[in-house]
Amino acid sequence: MNQDIFLVGSGLTRFGEWWDKSLKDLMDEAIKAALRSSGLSALEIDLVIVANMLAEVTNNQAGLGALASALLPHHPPAMRVEAACGSGALALHTACAFLESGRAKTVLVVGAEKMTDVSMDVISQALMGAADAELDAPSGLTFPGIFGLVAKRYMHEFGLTREELSIVSAVHHRNAAENPFAQFRTELSPEAVSESPLISDPLRLFDCSPVSDGAAACILSTSHKSPLRIVASQIASDTLSIAERPTIVSFPATREAMNRALLEADVERRDVRVVETHDCFSIAAVINMEDLGFAREGEGIKLYEDLYEGRASLFVNMGGGLKACGHPVAATGLKQLIDVGKHLSRASLPYGLAHNFGGAGATCGIHIVQNANV
Ligand code: COA
Repeated sequence: MNQDIFLVGSGLTRFGEWWDKSLKDLMDEAIKAALRSSGLSALEIDLVIVANMLAEVTNNQAGLGALASALLPHHPPAMRVEAACGSGALALHTACAFLESGRAKTVLVVGAEKMTDVSMDVISQALMGAADAELDAPSGLTFPGIFGLVAKRYMHEFGLTREELSIVSAVHHRNAAENPFAQFRTELSPEAVSESPLISDPLRLFDCSPVSDGAAACILSTSHKSPLRIVASQIASDTLSIAERPTIVSFPATREAMNRALLEADVERRDVRVVETHDCFSIAAVINMEDLGFAREGEGIKLYEDLYEGRASLFVNMGGGLKACGHPVAATGLKQLIDVGKHLSRASLPYGLAHNFGGAGATCGIHIVQNANV
């Protein structure tokens, strides 16, 4: 980074099913919480960046930049960015670019999604916008279907069993139990995961992130300081369609973004102890641990076994991840950054990272945060 960029404020709504709140209400709640936590006046925000994927379909709403800007008294310039479920990381990356260039000094980044007001058919089809409409959608695939294929192939190549995979969601649900912002705060045993209703073989209900409403907001600044500094912001892309990939048991965009982020931050992988990773489905979390380089190929589940048994030196998805905290898709990348900051502060650790992707790893964003108090 050619500027010191600090996370000076953050705010969240609880993720869940909010039939009594509009998309605007959710954004407003998260923005107000972020401003409160920063101690800044709203007038100090000189740019707003909104992350959202689905508002045209789920809320009949476009123009989200202006909609969010109007929640502040001085209507600062605003824009919306979109990279499906990776929209949050893309919004952070865009904010960093504005801050690095000096065109803005304090940026409000807000991610929001309201997904539960439409039927499952509508939301499943809308989420398929994160796959290739010509190559993937005509086959009738849904996202649970895509990741079901990924899980089948991974099990075939590496011998992962159904029982082993169930550990992943058990870890995430246990972490969410302490998180007041999480959609599901109940602990789940691996057996309960294995016995939950089949969604897309071999994936079951408790392997899947839910459909959620929620918003998350971060204030990034070069002119105000905090102990939490963004030391790397990287995005990488792959084909949108999994049909065009040589393999579906690894997401190369994660590897590329991670390598570049470590170089940019000038830190070793082993110094990063807090990780929020994109567990849209349990199998994705296993693969992500390998792509991020925290586990060897085919051994991501061993890391989850260590997490389950309390033997790991890493802290992973401490807020419950997408599975248990919820996944209002474009809010997720921002929520991850907030959770990284919270856990770095709570555990007095120096570095953490947020790993967010859109589609089946088609756009990957990685942000590394340094805790200057350590
Ligand atoms: N985890 C835990 N509980 C879940 C859940 C999940 N993923 N999804 C639903 N539930 C709960 C509901 O709260 C509900 O509980 P209740 O009966 O006490 O109210 C119950 O399970 C049944 O929920 P329902 O809404 O009928 O489930 P569904 O069958 O309509 O949807 C999925 C389940 C898995 C198909 C849906 O959550 C889904 O599509 N998830 C993936 C979303 C996605 O693709 N996101 C993008 C990722 S890239």
